[in-house]
Amino acid sequence: MTVIRPDHTIDQAWSAYSAHEHRIWKTLYEQQASMLPDRACDAFLRGMVALNLHQDGIPDFRRLNEDLSLLTGWRVVAVPGLVPDEVFFNHLAHRRFPAGRFIRKANQLDYLQEPDVFHDVFGHVPMLTDPVFADYMQAYGEGGLRAHRLDHLPHLARLYWHTVEFGLLQTPAGLRIYGAGIVSSRLETLYALDDPAPLRLAFSLERVMRTPYRIDDLQPTYFVAPSLIALLEATLQDFAGLYDRLACLPDIPIGQVIDEDIRFPPDVRAVA
Ligand code: PHE
Ligand code: FE
Repeated sequence: MTVIRPDHTIDQAWSAYSAHEHRIWKTLYEQQASMLPDRACDAFLRGMVALNLHQDGIPDFRRLNEDLSLLTGWRVVAVPGLVPDEVFFNHLAHRRFPAGRFIRKANQLDYLQEPDVFHDVFGHVPMLTDPVFADYMQAYGEGGLRAHRLDHLPHLARLYWHTVEFGLLQTPAGLRIYGAGIVSSRLETLYALDDPAPLRLAFSLERVMRTPYRIDDLQPTYFVAPSLIALLEATLQDFAGLYDRLACLPDIPIGQVIDEDIRFPPDVRAVA
């Protein structure tokens, strides 16, 4: 029997994972780890190494938290699935990252609707070792609680989607990935950087909050931040004024380009 605590967390029950489940993690880990050098941003790659995410298959959150909490004060907590918005934001505001504990089936390696432990831990946790991104995620949690009170959660949710899940970074070496939804997906890792089809637009807070997203396919649009610090600084302002403005501005349909947009070409590599 799984006990669900008042804060919606559960025990990871690490010893209950089967050898087969650990092998699924290893397969996914090895596949992504081989593709991500030169594609993921330095902060992600450093975090992946610092946390030893390849050891013994699915990481034991107790071991992971020893390293993670020393680095930035973040911890990973297990949850049974999606949790209510306010519970989620409250965890983030206290530097706790809620992660699913189940792992996808062997026939779902490329596609999954519900976030599993591979997406949540491999995708999200390496970035939490970066001090700037660690602060951004905490601020996002606090901002979520505010947006909830101001009735603007849909706008703030777009910021999460277009940064934390699907963000790209501009670096001297070219475009790099920091979004968890990309680094945890083989297909999207290739598509986001190399494919000529999607739009790659310079990040702007207002642009992002006016842009709806789809959850059932590769992204039609990626937003490129100039740096993690620029992303954090853009969010230091009080969003209340922005929310007021957004109430009178129409959404920009998915895939549409507007005059103010700055577009980036694909970052084409020799080998895929
Ligand atoms: N500054 C935002 C607000 O006033 C809070 C926030 C910070 C939101 C970082 C998202 C990311 O609500
Ligand atoms: Fe996610």
